[in-house]
Amino acid sequence: MQALQVWKTIGQAQAGCAALKQAGKRIGVVPTMGALHDGHLSLVRGSLAQCDATVVTIFVNPTQFGPGEDLSRYPQTWDQDLAALSELGVDAVFAPTVEEMYADGTTFVEPPAISKPLEGVHRPGHFRGVATIVLKLFHAVPADAAYFGQKDYQQAMVVSRMVQDLNCPIEMNVLPIVRDADGLALSSRNAYLTPADRQRALALHQTLRDAKNRIEQGCRDGEEISEGMLSSLSDCVDSVEYALLADPATLDPISAFPKTISAVIGLIAVYVGKTRLIDNEIIHVPS
Ligand code: PAJ
Repeated sequence: MQALQVWKTIGQAQAGCAALKQAGKRIGVVPTMGALHDGHLSLVRGSLAQCDATVVTIFVNPTQFGPGEDLSRYPQTWDQDLAALSELGVDAVFAPTVEEMYADGTTFVEPPAISKPLEGVHRPGHFRGVATIVLKLFHAVPADAAYFGQKDYQQAMVVSRMVQDLNCPIEMNVLPIVRDADGLALSSRNAYLTPADRQRALALHQTLRDAKNRIEQGCRDGEEISEGMLSSLSDCVDSVEYALLADPATLDPISAFPKTISAVIGLIAVYVGKTRLIDNEIIHVPS
């Protein structure tokens, strides 16, 4: 196995990728903000399985954090991240500084319309920062395939649409959510939770399971199910930003189920203490 390379500059990353391409390798890229957990590593494994070379990017991107968000305290676990990636057989890590990515400011990407609801309402400017950094990362690491998680469902939609609209020559892959044994979706932000808050955070997955059960039992009243999600969450967490059933293709809220719909998505964003958590589940609608 080749030793893991660490690229700090865009020049190193572009030259490194050119060398891999020269050697005929299909490159996969996994963009992350570090503090890696098994959810991130599942994306890495997906890339390793489908590509000849895998590059992981680690960059806590300031332009996607709003004022008052957790940029300054975002968890960083560089040594563990590197050890985990090296053990998996990743080829390279691209870990630029903020100066490297944004030396003299930047041109921004205006994100597509799918960025407007949900996260777009509660985190204004967030997807502008995400779309911008992902495009910049794709240019620094010109890979053949990219790996994103369904955990950030709307983000994956925004990036997929950007890739399509801006003709990015990269194949998008969106892989399933990895959860702890008790159902909590893995997230770097789970590190902020006290043991008691972590217990309360189980309400997110429980609420999605309840919605799924109701649909499987035949309920087709989306508004009623969404109201149920909201009220059960409100009992457990500190505040609910959104909790609803939506159309997985458009993110439009679902009231009465259209006759032909084969799947809906439950989407949740809440605060547990000062920690913002999101979760979702695609629910197949039995015909
Ligand atoms: P980050 O939160 O570090 O997540 C990196 C990738 O890991 C994203 O595609 C995310 O959806 C995925 N991921 C996170 N938790 C997961 C889980 N439990 N199961 C499966 N996949 C999971 O998302 C970002 O970073 C940033 O916005 C980024 C795209 C890197 C741009 O800065």
